[in-house]
Amino acid sequence: MTAKRNETAEQLTGFEVAPNGPTGRPRTVFAVPAPLRGHGPARIISLCNQKGGVGKTTTAISLGAALADYGRRVLAVDFDPQGALSAGLGIASHDVPNIYDLMLGTVKDAKEAIQQTATPNLDVIPANIDLSAAEVHLVNEVAREQILARVLRQVKDDYDVILIDCQPSLGLLTVNALTAAHGVLIPLECEFFALRGVALLVETIDKVKDRLNPALELDGILATMYDSRTLHSREVLERVVETFGDKVFETVIGRTVKFPDASVAGAPITQFAPDHQAAEAYRQLARELITRGAIA
Ligand SMILES: Nc1ncnc2c1ncn2[C@@H]1O[C@H](COP(=O)(O)OP(=O)(O)O)[C@@H](O)[C@H]1O
Ligand SMILES: [Mg+2]
Repeated sequence: MTAKRNETAEQLTGFEVAPNGPTGRPRTVFAVPAPLRGHGPARIISLCNQKGGVGKTTTAISLGAALADYGRRVLAVDFDPQGALSAGLGIASHDVPNIYDLMLGTVKDAKEAIQQTATPNLDVIPANIDLSAAEVHLVNEVAREQILARVLRQVKDDYDVILIDCQPSLGLLTVNALTAAHGVLIPLECEFFALRGVALLVETIDKVKDRLNPALELDGILATMYDSRTLHSREVLERVVETFGDKVFETVIGRTVKFPDASVAGAPITQFAPDHQAAEAYRQLARELITRGAIA
């Protein structure tokens, strides 16, 4: 008897064919979260990796937008002088109050620097190249590692989640982001040398935890730019899972040109291509974080 076309391989063989997800663990169905009854105070999550081009900014934008779509109030903080987060959300970052003004205290009220995006529930504090002077200007400040924490304290009751998009370095700005945060999310590109430098990053996180922010937690490692068709990508992911175990999110972000396309359009992937699997991947990450209890 010939198989009907819509019969799956599983039905034909009687075995489950692909029981596990790309991380090698069984796939979990993360439920769509119930709406929140009230809002705040925010859980603050820093997206860190001193390597550039690994998906920090893309994750801040796409995860932020996915959480906002689930009714969470989200503030994304652009903490990279390149201003890619601001640009990727279509937000002006020049001649407007920005994170540098707040850090320096030339603008005192953090709310003045907050801009709404086209995505309801998703707000931004922008950054521009001025921020690159911050490390020099703040080096002699008292409690210079705690400046961002102090700024965010003003607004954290208004949000459920604050995502800090770090620059690719482990300098004073990143230490500020880690000091202000409850959790760290590390995006790792499924490429050669993905793990190079991660030991140093983990060491920095441990130091900040030890000296400045004892409550800091590693929320998880996010594998990005994964291409299931290449053996290489699969091997890198395997290594990452071997190294970090359960800390690796079950959600894996595939490689697709939809992300750069969305940035050019100045919109999150969830708006630019809501039905694309890349948008669904970040919605799944949002559900996974909520299911794990990292976010309300
Ligand atoms: N999953 C992905 N697949 C393909 N390209 C991606 C993916 N994630 C990000 N990119 C692209 O890679 C580049 C670097 O990503 P970005 O998020 O800016 O990294 P980072 O903030 O770590 O420097 C950007 O052009 C972005 O559009
Ligand atoms: Mg970036």
